[in-house]
Order: sequence, then structure tokens, then C-alpha cells
Amino acid sequence: MIGGDAPVDGADALPLLGYVPVLLPEQLGDPAFRTSHGVRYAYVVGAMANGITSEALVEAAARAGMLAFFGAAGLDPGRVEQAIDRLSANLGDKPFGFNLIHSPNEPDLEAAIVELYLRRRVRCVSASAYLGLTLPLVKYRLAGIHRDADGRVVIPNRVVAKVSRIEVARKFFSPPPVDMVRALVDAGALTAEQAELAAQVPVAEDLTAEADSGGHTDNRPALALIPTMLALRDEMQARHAYEVKLRVGAAGGIATPASAAAAFAMGAAYVLTGTVNQACVESGTSDAVRAMLADAEQADVMMAPAADMFEMGVKVQVLKRGTMFALRARKLYELYRAHGSIEALPALQRAMLERDYFRCTLEEAWLQTRDFFATRDPSQNERAERDPKHKLALVFRKYLGQSSNWANVGEPTRQADYQVWCGPAMGAFNEWTRGSSLAEPARREAVTVAHNLLVGAAALTRANWLRAQGVALPVDAATFAPREPEALAKLLRPAAEEAEVVR
Ligand SMILES: Cc1cc2nc3c(=O)[nH]c(=O)nc-3n(C[C@H](O)[C@H](O)[C@H](O)COP(=O)(O)O)c2cc1C
Repeated sequence: MIGGDAPVDGADALPLLGYVPVLLPEQLGDPAFRTSHGVRYAYVVGAMANGITSEALVEAAARAGMLAFFGAAGLDPGRVEQAIDRLSANLGDKPFGFNLIHSPNEPDLEAAIVELYLRRRVRCVSASAYLGLTLPLVKYRLAGIHRDADGRVVIPNRVVAKVSRIEVARKFFSPPPVDMVRALVDAGALTAEQAELAAQVPVAEDLTAEADSGGHTDNRPALALIPTMLALRDEMQARHAYEVKLRVGAAGGIATPASAAAAFAMGAAYVLTGTVNQACVESGTSDAVRAMLADAEQADVMMAPAADMFEMGVKVQVLKRGTMFALRARKLYELYRAHGSIEALPALQRAMLERDYFRCTLEEAWLQTRDFFATRDPSQNERAERDPKHKLALVFRKYLGQSSNWANVGEPTRQADYQVWCGPAMGAFNEWTRGSSLAEPARREAVTVAHNLLVGAAALTRANWLRAQGVALPVDAATFAPREPEALAKLLRPAAEEAEVVR
């Protein structure tokens, strides 16, 4: 309540200027999201490939009542299973999930990961990079669907889709396609009764609208994307009348209390962060990368060719400052477009690649690439032997793949080649945390970051409520500087103890 220093009633009373109720960080977002996933906060730590969203990061988030997705993309099923072993042992029945990434170049890998998740009862996945639905994804979603004693449809496996295009979102908010359901019945993966129930559920109940972000991104502005996705949610809910109502969360650029508050104010059921978590001590990257990220400003990012969908011209958003990766990767894509084989590369260009990029001859690079695919996906080698342009693509993709590994392990001789996925969120985060303990890479703990974003979002939301009542706030009441964990702990008390008067 705002009324100056005098009592609010009696002879000396001041006029009431505004009223703002308590808003706790755990009240932000959609309560149904929190209940459905068994989390305290409507806050999700997004998957980051190659275990950058590491076991340690998932554990920290889960223990703090947040949902985190292990970064399974780019890892083989054996490594992913190790993560399942550790997380199930350490987290018990606390909620957590795994990434299920669409792999158009490696459909067998996507199918193998789904079989692993089904066998190990992984109950929640973040489905990403899908342009259309695939049979393994639908199989995952529908496995175990049944009616309970009260006749309600129960579906054990949850899919949180991550999407930046409306036409893809529509597929996730629809029931699974009839032809895929039929194929699963024919393959013995579903019974006829289960197939009937499939028509009553969406492929995903939760859908993250992914705006301009680190990694794969369509660079959509959040302010335009979120309302569009929310309108689609309402249209699809009205059309299908699902028992569990559809939800839309927001990702991309969330790195400050103001951006989190804005996403919630627009109606996001939850917020999902990526880039800022890579900068945290628990992430599976190196200290060298964490130091580079701490120096980034908002314009220090650019789009560069992606290793996984290189030939299709797909790009990812990466860090530009302190590494030449983006420029080098663009050069590789130009050469790939212009030439049909390794042998057709101009001599000068070839010499430059061998000296600066590969540090070996392209023939040697091909032999290493062939060895890699011999175990991972031998069909790639067979195709490369028939098609010299495919061989060129595989060798170039090898550089792109290695550049991520060099960054993750902090290979000191390869800093100029580090591929670090990063969005403009990093610059915004650095700007906000400047001068605070969170400016130091060693003090960036993912849960402290998340608590600051949520407590700050709640504070700024309340400040906005006052502003809307015409109350002029001093600058320090309308901003939220990062707090240390001890100070935050005081602001994270249970609701009953939190009631406070804002003066
Ligand atoms: C280093 C890095 C790796 C990522 N890898 C994946 C991935 O493997 N799968 C995925 O679904 N999203 C991936 N993402 C996207 C994040 O999960 C998240 O959606 C995104 O970073 C949110 O936007 P922000 O970067 O602005 O926070 C990655 C992002 C980063 C920064």
C-alpha cells in the first residue's frame, strides 16, 4: 500500500495512492503447468546439446523446484543412458526431462533414443527441431495411454514441444495423425483401443514459443510470436475441447527480470531459458567459454551454418566475439555451394582450409570422418563413396562438429575455432548483472540466476501494477538489481510470511 509515512486511517491519514497485493515468484505463470509437472516455479531450463545442460544443471534445477531437460542432442544412446542412470538415482521422483531432438539426417538415432526413453520410463521430453511429426515421436507420446477407473484418459508420457513456426505448432496441438496411429497399431505398438483414445489428446499439451535464441532459431521477435501462439492455443483448445487445457510457454531472449515479467504479462504459462544457463558453473561447457560469454554484448552474436543440417542451409546463432568460428563456417558453406567435390576446390582455398581449419590434409580429414561414421552411421560413408559432394559435406561437417567439442572441453589451441551457441540474451544478462556478484563467471549458479529472474519478475510486475494506478515510482523501486543467494533466500519465504507493505 502506498500512502506515505503517516497512518492510513485516523486524523493524520494520507490519501491512498495505490494498492498492490503480494506476488510470489511461485505465483508467476500457469498454476496448471506447475501442478502438471510437479514443480514449484513455472521456470524451465532448456536442453543444450552435448550435455551442456548437464546432469549437474538438471539436478540443481530439479532440487530447486524447476523443470530442466538434459541436453541429449549430439550424444549417443549409451551416454544418454548414463545420464538417465545418474539422474534417476540422484533425483528419485523429482521431475526432470530429456531432449528428444528431430534428426532428419539420422532417423535411426532418433528412433533409438525413443526406444531408450520408453525402456527407461523417461516421462517427459522436450521435443525440438521438428518441422513435422515423426513416427518415433508419436510412439513415445502414445505409449501406455489408457483409461483409469473413472473413465478418464491417462497418458503417462509428456511432450513439451519447442517451436517457432505456427504451422508446426498446429501439428503439436492436434491429436496424433491418424495414419501414424494406424501404422503403430499395424506394428503392434498400440492396441485398437489405445488408437481410439489417441484422438482425444494433443501430441503436446505444452508448447514453448521459441523466439530469437541461442542455437537453432528463426530469429522471431518474442513480442510478435507469443501472442500468435497464444491465439493458436485458444483456437485449438476450442476446436478439440481437450480435457487438459493447452499451454504456451516463452523462450528466447529471457535473461533479465524485465524480460521474464514481460513474458508472464503476455500470458506465458512458463518461461524457458537457455543461453544464460550455459554461462553458469553447472553447465557442461568449459571455463574458457564461460569467460568468453561473460564478455559478450548484445550484438556479439551472429548466424552461422549448422553442423546437423549443413547441406540444407540451416543456421544457428553463435557467439561472434573472441572466436572466428562463424566466419569460418560461413566460408565452408560458400565453398560447399560452389564446388562438387574435395578435388574441385581451388588450390589456394584448399591450402587455407588445410592450414587454418583442419590442420591436416583434406584426405586425412576424410579418413577421420569415415572412421567416425563407420560406427555412428555407416550409410553416410556408402553415400559419400558414390557422391563426392556428400563426401565434401561430411568433411566440412566434421569441422563444425569438432568446433563445438573444442569449445566444450576448452581446447586451448583451438580458441579461434570455438563454436558457442549463444543468443542476444547473453548481452542483456551481462548488462543487467554488471557490478554484481553475478557478473563473475565463477558465481553464476543456475538456481541463483533463476531465483533472481523470478523474484525480479514478481517485483517488476508489482511495480507495473502501481504504475498503472498512476503512482510515480523512484527508479530503484522500478528496477531489480541481482541479489546474492542469502538476500534472495529472505525473499523466497512461503506466502503466509511474505505479506509486506510497499512504501
Ligand atoms: C549452447 C546451447 C545449446 C542448445 N542446444 C539445444 C538442444 O540441443 N536442443 C534444444 O531443443 N534446444 C537447444 N538450445 C536452445 C535452448 O534450449 C533454449 O530454447 C534457448 O536457448 C532459449 O533462448 P535463449 O538462448 O535466448 O535463452 C540450445 C541453446 C544454447 C544456448
